[in-house]
Amino acid sequence: MNLSAVLPADLLPQCLPQHVAVIMDGNGRWANQRRLPRIAGHRQGAKVLKDLLRCCKDWGIGALTAYAFSTENWRRPTSEVDFLMMLFEKMLRKELTEMHREGVRIRFLGDLSALSPSLQREIDRAMQETAHNTAIEFNVAMNYGSRSEIVYACQQVAKKVEQGDLSADAISEEMISQHLYTAGRDPDLLIRTSGEQRLSNFLLWQLAYTEMYFTDALWPDFDRDEFHRALQVFQGRDRRFGNAKDAVTIAEPAAEQHIAVKTAALIAQLIA
Ligand code: FPP
Repeated sequence: MNLSAVLPADLLPQCLPQHVAVIMDGNGRWANQRRLPRIAGHRQGAKVLKDLLRCCKDWGIGALTAYAFSTENWRRPTSEVDFLMMLFEKMLRKELTEMHREGVRIRFLGDLSALSPSLQREIDRAMQETAHNTAIEFNVAMNYGSRSEIVYACQQVAKKVEQGDLSADAISEEMISQHLYTAGRDPDLLIRTSGEQRLSNFLLWQLAYTEMYFTDALWPDFDRDEFHRALQVFQGRDRRFGNAKDAVTIAEPAAEQHIAVKTAALIAQLIA
């Protein structure tokens, strides 16, 4: 049995993030360090993403959202953009059957109309075939930009007002959320690799209360041990959602175990 398929003993299943988002940065630098072409970094990065998806499923995390290609990434050299598009299409063709068998529900977030017709076909096929799977949700942000996503959502809502179906006063946060590409649970944890500490137009609305984790590891080196470290940090955070520290209630058993883990970590620090 692959031991890393089992949730590490120091992590509490009740306190895991249910939705993890990743900004996969550092592919180019990883390749440069090895005197390889940048595309070798992207190829390795795709393997890492595949393993992270499996790891999330193994460890009981319900959703993974990955920033694969931003609306700004078109500015890269044509050869790199072409390679990335080819990689996305190839990965979809190669991995779809296995992902479907493993119960992955795939969704793509972004303006897909700018992608090649053959990539759009693969995307449609993947979304349709896996639409009823429930083991884990895998969202791929492709030609995605958060500001334009918010503008698009506002336009949809404004149209309802224009048509007289909605009053301006009735516009709510929930309504805007439901018109975003994500239209679901916001991420609990955002991970960005390679030492950069910014959001780069990713999920600006959805990350309002998300815990951020930045690591110097380059994306192609982000393995299960790195993910384990990110989850340890996450479980050590106090999520208050704007509430006062002593007024936050978490489910009783989870709260007790949370305190037990914090105490154990403190004791470990003291005896180290
Ligand atoms: C950023 O690193 C990475 C990207 C823009 C591409 C990410 C895509 C993958 C990992 C492939 C995912 C595959 C699928 C099927 C979704 P960078 O190139 O900006 O790195 P650098 O900052 O070191 O140059």
